Amino acid sequence: MEEVNDIAFRLLCKKAGAGLTYSPMTHPQSKQKIFLDDKPALQLFCTTTKGIKEFIKKNDKQVSLWDFNLGCPATTARKHGFGSYLKDLKIIEKILKTMREATKKPVTVKIRKSEISFQVLELANKYCDAITIHPRIQSQGYSGKPDIKFAEEIKSKSKIPVIYSGDVDENNYKELLKKFDLVMIGRKAIGNPNIFAKITKKKTKITFKDYLKLAEKYKLYFKQIKFQAMAFTKGQKDAKKLRLKLYKSKTLEEIKEVYNEKR
Ligand SMILES: Cc1cc2nc3c(=O)[nH]c(=O)nc-3n(C[C@H](O)[C@H](O)[C@H](O)COP(=O)(O)O)c2cc1C
Repeated sequence: MEEVNDIAFRLLCKKAGAGLTYSPMTHPQSKQKIFLDDKPALQLFCTTTKGIKEFIKKNDKQVSLWDFNLGCPATTARKHGFGSYLKDLKIIEKILKTMREATKKPVTVKIRKSEISFQVLELANKYCDAITIHPRIQSQGYSGKPDIKFAEEIKSKSKIPVIYSGDVDENNYKELLKKFDLVMIGRKAIGNPNIFAKITKKKTKITFKDYLKLAEKYKLYFKQIKFQAMAFTKGQKDAKKLRLKLYKSKTLEEIKEVYNEKR
């Protein structure tokens, strides 16, 4: 998840038991530094094949698989025509083919419920090793119910494994795994990497201090650390009060103080 899945957070999700972590979507021509120490799925977004081969060659060894984003509903995606706004099947085919030819690692594509879902599935059947379906339509963003029946239709027509995404948590994942090959946990993991420990029955207990250690190691930006500091208050006693204090924090020291006071 964009803004959430930084390297420190991803490493902690893995430690807690996540089978695979995803990088936030990345443009193949981006010059931004990316950390791949968790060997994540690296998700690409773009509207042409420019730079894909080179980007994959450069990072191939450090990733578990390559994913292509056709689900992003954000305004920037609308402005530039990527994510869920990319509907040109010829372009989508070119991109998936280019990804396929550039790597021996698995290639996957992530889609929403839309009028082109089944056509993209046909392309995925041809070029990809799995498809992820988040069965909410673009205008829903992340709200409202995901259409599980639609995802089941995708599964019934798919020749490749189907990864289901949409409101997955520790209570429903077993049922969903009877219908789909794999499940993806999104928002329920925000501020809560321990969800993976619950599911995998690992004894690991991740705290914000664990996050902080890694965030400092990777020299993550203050703004990012503050975001996670606030997210990690989820489910805690006095979470609202804590969040307010954290919101007002202007330095890392202040954030540390809030967490120290808490104990
Ligand atoms: C803040 C945020 C950022 C997201 N960023 C991405 C992204 O970069 N790539 C992607 O494929 N999905 C992204 N998603 C969608 C999630 O991967 C997931 O499909 C969606 O939230 C539904 O799952 P959930 O109900 O478990 O959260 C994002 C979702 C949120 C809430």
